[in-house]
Amino acid sequence: MLTPNLTVSEQGTLCFGGADMTALAKKHGTPLYVMDENMIRENCRGYQRVIAEEYGGNGLICYASKALSCKELYRIVHSEQLGADVISGGELYTALQAGMPAEKIVFHGNSKSDEELEMAMKAGVGRIVADHLPELERLNRIAGSLGKTPAVMLRIKPGIDAHTHDFVKTGCIDSKFGFALETGEALEAVKAAAAYPNLRLVGLHCHIGSQIFDTEPFAEAGRVMVRFMAQIRTELGLTLPELNLGGGPGIRYTEDDDPPAFGSIVRAILAAVKAVCAELDFPNPFVLFEPGRSIVGGAGLTLYTVMAKKTIPNVRTYVLVDGGMCDNPRYALYHSRYEALIANKAAAERSERVTIGGKCCESGDLIGEDMPLQPAEPGDTLAVLATGAYNYSMASNYNRNPRAEIVMVRDGEARTVVRRESYEDIARNDI
Ligand code: LLP
Repeated sequence: MLTPNLTVSEQGTLCFGGADMTALAKKHGTPLYVMDENMIRENCRGYQRVIAEEYGGNGLICYASKALSCKELYRIVHSEQLGADVISGGELYTALQAGMPAEKIVFHGNSKSDEELEMAMKAGVGRIVADHLPELERLNRIAGSLGKTPAVMLRIKPGIDAHTHDFVKTGCIDSKFGFALETGEALEAVKAAAAYPNLRLVGLHCHIGSQIFDTEPFAEAGRVMVRFMAQIRTELGLTLPELNLGGGPGIRYTEDDDPPAFGSIVRAILAAVKAVCAELDFPNPFVLFEPGRSIVGGAGLTLYTVMAKKTIPNVRTYVLVDGGMCDNPRYALYHSRYEALIANKAAAERSERVTIGGKCCESGDLIGEDMPLQPAEPGDTLAVLATGAYNYSMASNYNRNPRAEIVMVRDGEARTVVRRESYEDIARNDI
């Protein structure tokens, strides 16, 4: 099975986090997102452990809540001592409502509005990551008007493209995020930020990508960033105390995927950071990481009801379900691959190859193509695995489909943490 929390009961049904998925689908209806709380907590602890063991605990793990933002997630990660990365007023609002301490929140974004910046400063978020020069100017102005001196980090493009096989150092100037290192733009931004009277420049941030399977680009980003911090010390006499290295460790979506454990990635980054610090006699910075997918991705699956099966001779077989791109747009957007199985036939062989189609009025509304699956029949419960990240958070009401419920399982017990939307919810703001 894809993750160790997936098992098959004696009756041949799929269990996840100790709960029977066919029973859950019956009780809560479908489509249904199911999250395994124990696995989320184990992942949080795994990250904490590495920081403690390799770095004396001198860091903060901020869960990247764009992967899955709802109050219960913030409560869980907060109870595991993590902070949160938020990217919008909506995520910030949800995190604060859930009791996430503002000082443990990092606020991101390349297009934050004045209202969002004001909201972040009034709440007292721990760090605001500035993306471009005019934003620094706005930050300084708003801070002045509120009588605040927020801690600011600068988003740097370290010039590492982790998505090419041989990552290249010049590949990433063309990104909408942050200040480029190699053009001198980043150094200018540091000078500007340091000069603003209402801002406290505390450090630098970088994020080299997502769903990355190679360790080396991460380690190289750590080296590049520490070298830049040392250059800032030499040229500007400024020793920045903090370094945020973003998120990005990849997870297993299919049985062919073999990513390194996130722990070994973080270990490699910290080793690289410490080595360059020692070489350049630079103090080890306080480090931040922002993992999203590797905390919640494998800890979730989605249940659907099979509505119909359509075989087009010599072309393909469609298995049609009661959800689709409105609850999981990742195949439509990225052609992302998933494993699926019939929860009520989990012990049977996946002897067919099918295309799983959604209910939206769009040919591209697929969960996947050429997927091995047990012979499906209408009424079966289909489970799509590893949907904990970037599914609910990217869901839409396309075709006015209500967003699905999220159920959290813990030791076999299930509770609703996000209610299913109703038709009234959907039409609420219509005039
Ligand atoms: N920090 C920053 C600044 C980010 O931009 C991201 C992701 C993360 C942390 C978390 O990265 P993770 O650990 O989850 O890889 N919708 C896409 C993923 C977009 C990721 C955007 N930024 C998908 O479904 O694959």
